[in-house]
Amino acid sequence: MSIKTKNVLSVKEAIESRKSIRKYVQAPMSQEELQEVLSLVQLAPSAWNLQPWRFHVITDSALKEKLQEAAYGQQQVTSAPAVIVVTSDMEDVLAHLEETVHPGYAEDQKQGHIDNMNSIFGAMSVEERGQWGLTQTNIALGFLLVAAQGLGYSTVPMLGFDQAKVRELLGLPEHVLFAGIVPIGVGAEEGYPHHRFSLDKIVTYK
Ligand SMILES: Cc1cc2nc3c(=O)[nH]c(=O)nc-3n(C[C@H](O)[C@H](O)[C@H](O)COP(=O)(O)O)c2cc1C
Repeated sequence: MSIKTKNVLSVKEAIESRKSIRKYVQAPMSQEELQEVLSLVQLAPSAWNLQPWRFHVITDSALKEKLQEAAYGQQQVTSAPAVIVVTSDMEDVLAHLEETVHPGYAEDQKQGHIDNMNSIFGAMSVEERGQWGLTQTNIALGFLLVAAQGLGYSTVPMLGFDQAKVRELLGLPEHVLFAGIVPIGVGAEEGYPHHRFSLDKIVTYK
């Protein structure tokens, strides 16, 4: 049975109402509900459509306990019914470049594109292209927060965790980089009121 209580929100409503939530209703989130969110998130854009983001969805209580330990005891990790660990894997992208090529490309265009990608990313170190992939994956992280909110779920993005410990828990190789871990579920608190700079400070018009 769905634990969702709210209707789908407009983009404006989702962005305005989203706040970091650290207490959740104690009810599971089904794989179907998680897929509904992730099917929107995967529509995020990325340069050359390389889609380096990968999502590790944790619902197992014992694993969430260990994740919480790795996140310096932050309670939201076990309070949420699911935790999505968002990572970036450029080495996987480069090993399967053909999967990123749009099916509308002609055969010679496809190979040209793959050669171009190999030449650009082959000139970078694993670390450099990992960091490049992370800039793309952060776009998906933003989509995740808004998509979840729009579908009636709350989230909190987190970078406060011991990356080496989470890497070990999930069995992730060194080249895989973390965009964040995101507890998700139906919120059970209001969160803090928004506090943001004025537009005058952050926007210039020329
Ligand atoms: C990349 C990133 C990492 C964050 N890490 C944590 C974290 O480890 N723990 C936490 O409680 N909140 C974390 N936050 C939440 C921020 O504190 C929060 O987004 C910010 O204060 C603005 O509040 P709001 O999300 O409610 O609008 C993080 C946010 C971002 C974007």
